[in-house]
Amino acid sequence: MKTAIIGGTGLYSAGDGRQIIQETEYGKAHLDVIDIDGMEVAFLARHGRGHTVPPHRINYRANMKALYDLGVRHVYASVAVGSMNPSYKPGDLVVLSDFLDFTKVREQTYFTGGEAGVRHVDMTDPYCKNLRQLFFDKAAELGVPIAGSGVYVTTEGPRFETAAEIRFMRLIGGDVVGMTNVPEAVLAKELGICYSAVGIVTNWCTGMTEDISGHEIDQLVGGRKDELTRLFIEVFKMHPVQSNCQCNASLI
Ligand code: HPA
Repeated sequence: MKTAIIGGTGLYSAGDGRQIIQETEYGKAHLDVIDIDGMEVAFLARHGRGHTVPPHRINYRANMKALYDLGVRHVYASVAVGSMNPSYKPGDLVVLSDFLDFTKVREQTYFTGGEAGVRHVDMTDPYCKNLRQLFFDKAAELGVPIAGSGVYVTTEGPRFETAAEIRFMRLIGGDVVGMTNVPEAVLAKELGICYSAVGIVTNWCTGMTEDISGHEIDQLVGGRKDELTRLFIEVFKMHPVQSNCQCNASLI
């Protein structure tokens, strides 16, 4: 199996599949293996199939290592995000181009010293530039509107941000905010996996609007999840390779 989709909040399936539990040295990961015209694609619901795992308790290392051990080298992920960029409104799709990290208590690396070794990972392209381009190309070909690219601010959660925090995050270059993409993107890079994530805007960030009722996550994700899954699968059908990026040569 060479490709996988990681589903964020509101995206808990990408089609009928057989459920498997993959054991790793970091713990177990629960996955579906779906068959797309003879091509196997792994699907992993980041928060669990019933959304039972909060962002700070997700076993990111087990999830990414399980995909790696299955042979996966290309991953598309969906993330529910709040928008602090007036150009990106609820319901929009935003391709992540970079991140800012405000997480606090997460294991961010496989290289924890001792026998595990000490390595660093280059972050010139935190998200695979090839998968990002293929996604934009396929969206244009199929006529699926993509609002643009954006810098993702990762918070520890599970609380939302204060209005003062959002003012600060805008000042330092954030476009969207969520609670999960670090360390997921970092661990993918450590494993040499090509990884790209697309945000579905579910709300305006705190303080961006007077109306605080607009957190219709299921409705907003639900409105875009079929298009998004289709785009991911259509790119996977093109059998992407790792020779157009540096993702599997990023360890320092
Ligand atoms: N903040 C943090 N995480 C989120 C948000 C938000 O506004 N929306 C969806 N995930």
